Amino acid sequence: MCTMFLYQKRPPTTDWSFEQKQIMFESIVILDFGSQYTQLISRRIRELGVYSQIIPFSTPAEKIKEFNAKGIILSGSPYSVYQKGAPKPDNGIFSLGIPVLGICYGMQYITNTMGGVVQRSKQREYGRAEVEISCKSPLFRDMCGDARHTVWMSHSDRIERIPAEFEIIASSANSPVAAFQHTTRPIFGLQFHPEVSHTVEGMRILGNFIQRCNVTQKWNLGEFIDTAINDIKSTVGEDLVIGAISGGVDSTVASVITQRAIGNRLKLLFINNGLLRENESEEVMAVFKSMQLNVRYVDASGVFLNRLKHVTDPEKKRKIIGKTFIDVFEKYASGKAFKWLLQGTLYPDVIESTSHIGPSQTIKSHHNVGGLPSRMRLKVLEPLRLLFKDEVRSIGGILGIPGHILSRQPFPGPGLSIRILGEINKQHIDILRKADRIVRTEIEKSSFSATLWQYFAVLLPVKTVGIMGDERTYENVVAIRAVNSSDAMTADWSRLPYELLDKLSSRIISEVVGVNRVVYDISSKPPSTIEWE
Ligand code: XMP
Repeated sequence: MCTMFLYQKRPPTTDWSFEQKQIMFESIVILDFGSQYTQLISRRIRELGVYSQIIPFSTPAEKIKEFNAKGIILSGSPYSVYQKGAPKPDNGIFSLGIPVLGICYGMQYITNTMGGVVQRSKQREYGRAEVEISCKSPLFRDMCGDARHTVWMSHSDRIERIPAEFEIIASSANSPVAAFQHTTRPIFGLQFHPEVSHTVEGMRILGNFIQRCNVTQKWNLGEFIDTAINDIKSTVGEDLVIGAISGGVDSTVASVITQRAIGNRLKLLFINNGLLRENESEEVMAVFKSMQLNVRYVDASGVFLNRLKHVTDPEKKRKIIGKTFIDVFEKYASGKAFKWLLQGTLYPDVIESTSHIGPSQTIKSHHNVGGLPSRMRLKVLEPLRLLFKDEVRSIGGILGIPGHILSRQPFPGPGLSIRILGEINKQHIDILRKADRIVRTEIEKSSFSATLWQYFAVLLPVKTVGIMGDERTYENVVAIRAVNSSDAMTADWSRLPYELLDKLSSRIISEVVGVNRVVYDISSKPPSTIEWE
């Protein structure tokens, strides 16, 4: 068992039917036994310039060859190898002649299946550990300068006896078998996690494994674009494709790449819900035009704002906006000859949804176009489904998408509606837009914008007393939110300098009519959230 104390337990991936077209890059495949670090292994391999794919642990060995696999990594798992229902791969993988690296559970599985002994242990080992390595292993090439290395351990079972024909190549005080290798075949095991940044030489170890795999072809995003364009051409044929574009990174990159493949047979809708930031619709439409995208501008702000009248409950707001989005989308898309729906789904979404989303499946629901009615029967086209976010940004750069689009801070689908607490009306939207523009402009002028995850203004549904000149005022309060985060799962409030906060406050109070007080949000997530609603 390789316990992950930081995250919730998740099941191993069992059931993706791999209809998706196999990409022809040489790859390292990762058999997923359910570790929360599986995606991280895949990212690390790609950072080392080699294409990696996560596939179900049960994938038959014969099928693995079709992935153009040059190496196989067995991931960690929340299971114990002795446990009932513990995931087991096809043992044919050890006879393919392809190097295999087992990490944590992966190593324990190799031990168990090849005649060694894995012992249940009540004592878990979690955190940093020092290991002593053997220089003669190709896994530890160029690491012999230091006898001891810091690694990250996260397991409770341990290996008591290694299988015959294996040798120990690293050990720590708590794990006498911290790493092993077969004496003649390219099979390796690591009890610790090389993919976690606390394992100081982790990238070097993974790089050494890749070298042992003889991967000759580098993962090249420029080539990926060509492959993806050909793939879209052959998948879609002469059909028409429709998609919604928001101006966010994913939908813009997905649209540009599809447009390169099928030209104006891609029709895009930009739906203005009346809840966008100041000048946002004009700015993104200008970018779409410069990219020669076939975008139809739909001003649906009236219907959105009408349906939101007098609604104050945050969840109701979201539901109304989601439903209205679908209604508007359907009005423009249904009855026409569209066969495909373009979506900017990324690799983490594919991995996280254990239910398979393939190119030929009729759409059920999605976080962006949440639940189109089944009568629309569109097939899903997801050209970015094999990419991580940073790779999508790089591809966007290669495709010539302007930098300010690629580096945009996340903006929620429900837009300003979840930053106006209480009732949404034209006046509230105007006040928030002006305050938000000042927050964005001043922070972007400072050196802070590059380090922040998100920064914006929030309009509170309270009025407070103030004094302007000789006059008593009774006006609205604006809160400023600025957070640091790496993935929005957790976030810390940003320690912006007083001078910058002072500038934001003075400008908002003097320039935005209807606001006489500004406060700074100093709550972190958890227990708060980034957005206020
Ligand atoms: P919270 O407020 O949950 O937000 O800490 C985490 C991240 O998600 C964004 N967010 C949304 N994005 N639709 C979206 O597309 C939504 O309904 C939504 N709610 C929150 C938020 O801006 C932050 O980046």
